[in-house]
Amino acid sequence: EFKIDVQQTGAPIQSTMYGIFFEDINFGADGGLYAELIKNRSFEFENPFGGWVPFGNVTVQTKSPCFDKNPHYVRLSCNKELTGTGLDNEGFKGIGIKAEEKYDFSFYARTVTNGPIKFRINLVNSGHDIYETKEVEINGKDWKKYSVVLTPEATEAHSRLRITMLTQGTADLEHISLFPQKTFNNRPNGMRADLAQALKDLKPGVFRFPGGCIVEGTNLATRYQWKNTVGPVENRPININRWNYTFPHKKFSDYYQSYGLGFFEYFQLSEDIGAEPLPVLNCGLSCQYENDDPKENCPVDKLQPYIDDALDLIEFANGPVTSKWGKLRADMGHPAPFNLKFIAIGNEQWGTLFTERLEPFVKAIRAKYPDIKVIGSSGPQAEGEDFDFLWPEMKRMKVDLVDEHFYRSPEWFLNGAKRYDSYDRNGPKVFAGEYACHPNNRENSFLTALAEAAFMTGFERNADVVHICTYAPLFAHVDAWQWRPDLIWFDNLSLVKTPNYYVQQLYGHNAGTNVVPLTMQNEPVTGQNDLYATAAVDKNTNELIIKIANTGIQNRKVKLDLNGLSGGKHKGTVTVLHASDLEAKNTICKPDQVVPVVSEIELEAPAAEVVLRPLSFSVYRVAF
Ligand code: AHR
Repeated sequence: EFKIDVQQTGAPIQSTMYGIFFEDINFGADGGLYAELIKNRSFEFENPFGGWVPFGNVTVQTKSPCFDKNPHYVRLSCNKELTGTGLDNEGFKGIGIKAEEKYDFSFYARTVTNGPIKFRINLVNSGHDIYETKEVEINGKDWKKYSVVLTPEATEAHSRLRITMLTQGTADLEHISLFPQKTFNNRPNGMRADLAQALKDLKPGVFRFPGGCIVEGTNLATRYQWKNTVGPVENRPININRWNYTFPHKKFSDYYQSYGLGFFEYFQLSEDIGAEPLPVLNCGLSCQYENDDPKENCPVDKLQPYIDDALDLIEFANGPVTSKWGKLRADMGHPAPFNLKFIAIGNEQWGTLFTERLEPFVKAIRAKYPDIKVIGSSGPQAEGEDFDFLWPEMKRMKVDLVDEHFYRSPEWFLNGAKRYDSYDRNGPKVFAGEYACHPNNRENSFLTALAEAAFMTGFERNADVVHICTYAPLFAHVDAWQWRPDLIWFDNLSLVKTPNYYVQQLYGHNAGTNVVPLTMQNEPVTGQNDLYATAAVDKNTNELIIKIANTGIQNRKVKLDLNGLSGGKHKGTVTVLHASDLEAKNTICKPDQVVPVVSEIELEAPAAEVVLRPLSFSVYRVAF
């Protein structure tokens, strides 16, 4: 029997409680969420032809560039070569195009020889079948932008873009771009519509960006610097991605961050999906896993530029349009402030290297922006260890929240349902910033989703301590990934939501406003009879919400003793995520193997009975 007392309204559940965390890993940004379809559009990879196949007479130049921070461009000379002269782009493991949809093709160009020069622009498949042909004529010796709309006649996941010179002469081309016209919320330089919609559909309370390890970089030179990611997109200098290898550790040569998805776009996306923005900034350390060279740490007395980056970011997000960084935000199209409330300093750092750097950030941010909540970190933890080194330091520094990361076994997750019951109620709050259940095969099976659902009952029951949680990582391209499990998998045309996604969605959509007590024999339900449970009320809709994970292989009949509800029947729904096989998965070909099923129910107060399916996560929602 579960005793639930609807009258005893407990801790508020923060609107930020169930959020998302984005990192450019597994081709999550370029080739993923960021809708640009051309790889290495500005020829700035270490191999400037990375992603391109030139044919005929094509060279790379840097003299009088169009964009000073991205100085490379290509020079094409056509003199009736047998092959023709031009170049072909492979996209990100191909270019995904859809029949009859419109794509904006553009480049910057100038002629070197006299007279106009014509180019043919094609979308082709690997068999050289042509899906679309358009022509663009350029004229003039100054750099100028030219565009044309492409409308392919076929759908293809692995198309290529081909540019062929049709006139004899010499011309320069730069920043060659292909963008679907349909982006999320129709934003120019926007997001792939289906992927961003999947984020919005989670109802995330918070959006943490731009990542974990990529914030740190493999060394300080390749750390994430937000100021390089704002302003005109053509002039954002690219950066090698710290995840420039495949799992397990085979080198990619072509994983860069174009920064087309930069801090302006992150803030705008947060607004578009209704989530509070939560940026993470470098604290003066490069990735401690990659690098123990002390030269790769910024000395504490030289941290000022890093601290300025944090202060300037707050001005960029919230400052008046008359301020330096507020003006840039307005110039980029958003005069209203983004209303930033949180900032995280350092990702998953450890030791005194971290604490002695974090402290001056905390002081400077508190002094200038006392209302901004500062997030510290508890460092990485291996299975069997606990987060006890950095927490006392975080308390001493009085950070507002502590970012905890755990990628652990299913057993750890089930035991972890009790984790926050014993946390100090007076210290900083918890931001579970990266977590995912990792079984030995590291696949997104139903087993992992169920373990996470059970574990998350502990977040909700302890909503007075846990204020934010974000699963990690968010995205993975099926043809280009180095880390799993991940919440959403995609190819160049479609996506698949994992069972883990549905668990996050069920929590996000059924968060409630306040916890209410739910006990079995006066104890919270944290694994007795394989059950994990929590209850909340939603004061806005006047509903009771009960979440129960049954990790056992038997049906369970549970009596609900519903104190505080008026006697009689209470209508509502039950949503159940269930699979009879713990190894069940959703795949691109079979995306609906494990999906939530909603049914109508009535719970009779004061005593109702429910039957929980084996291996299931159920969310009951009934009117008071
Ligand atoms: O989510 C993948 C990585 O895990 C993050 O980049 C890092 O913070 C953690 O180690």
